[in-house]
Amino acid sequence: MSGIAIGPGVTDVRHFLALSDLGPGGLRRLLDAAHARKQARAGRPNGTVDDDAPLTGHVLAAIFEKPSTRTRLSFDIAMRQLGGEAITIAAGDMQLGRGETIADTARVLSGFVDAVMIRANRHSDVEALAAAAGVPVINGLTDLSHPCQIVADLMTVEERLGRPVASTRWAWIGDGNNVCNSIIEAAGLLGFDLVIACPSAYGPNAALLDAARMRGASIEVIDDPAHAACGADIVVTDTWVSMGDTDADARLHAFRAFQVNPDLMARAAAHAVFLHCLPAHRGEEVTDAVIDGPQSAVWDEAANRVHAQKAILLWALGWLD
Ligand code: CP
Ligand code: NVA
Repeated sequence: MSGIAIGPGVTDVRHFLALSDLGPGGLRRLLDAAHARKQARAGRPNGTVDDDAPLTGHVLAAIFEKPSTRTRLSFDIAMRQLGGEAITIAAGDMQLGRGETIADTARVLSGFVDAVMIRANRHSDVEALAAAAGVPVINGLTDLSHPCQIVADLMTVEERLGRPVASTRWAWIGDGNNVCNSIIEAAGLLGFDLVIACPSAYGPNAALLDAARMRGASIEVIDDPAHAACGADIVVTDTWVSMGDTDADARLHAFRAFQVNPDLMARAAAHAVFLHCLPAHRGEEVTDAVIDGPQSAVWDEAANRVHAQKAILLWALGWLD
């Protein structure tokens, strides 16, 4: 279906399956747009439409194979603020669950809506959906990555520290999971330093690590959380047991030395920011004192999902370079 105009000046379908889909300089432009659009509507009620209402008449299908609070709500609110609408569907309620193929589903959705956001168990299923879709497909989390989350994380860090994220040092503590993989991708695209502390059996995706290093990023993978946190500007973690993980007991055992607590935060820079994509498992990967403490930016991080999704939707539909 390539060749159909989907936004001002854009003639190819733009899928957002990974941060690198934004192209050279694209993540920086996306962040700038997200900050600017957030500031332009500061103080307005959440349900009001932005003055330019760029997505008037546009509809997003938001499909979920797994639970969601933030991704689900933020895409719906994002579409409302851009002047459009969202239809949210549990994948289990669709004919996908009865054997209709992903490709046929993509073709049908492309006739109904202007963009599709999907949270899927398998990244390969999202790639298959995009391959057959005539409208943009957005990755709302897979087993491999969570790029929408990281746009909000980057925004939050820049707001808190008051400087571009390119000059920061991040410490990832815990599972080398989908969220970690997207931070690795961001480090490669924006050039910030990253130290990942994880048990050796739970490391991040090797191909994404190689790609980010090829772009020139300084990324270390070690098994010592205290060393990783030393002097960090950002300390970030996530659950030890992600949706779909079936080895919870082994994980809870393997990660017990990887908790973000006040002792660990004390090793980071005095101005360090704590991030967590949420939902948090208090007492496991993070203690109450940290997530509820003054260095925690997790509530801003969650609220910024709306502004991140808006920039992603505008890029996918051709309103941003
Ligand atoms: N962080 C995040 O994606 O949250 P949800 O699972 O609630 O969407
Ligand atoms: N790593 C977590 C992120 C949840 C938003 C998971 O995949 O369950």
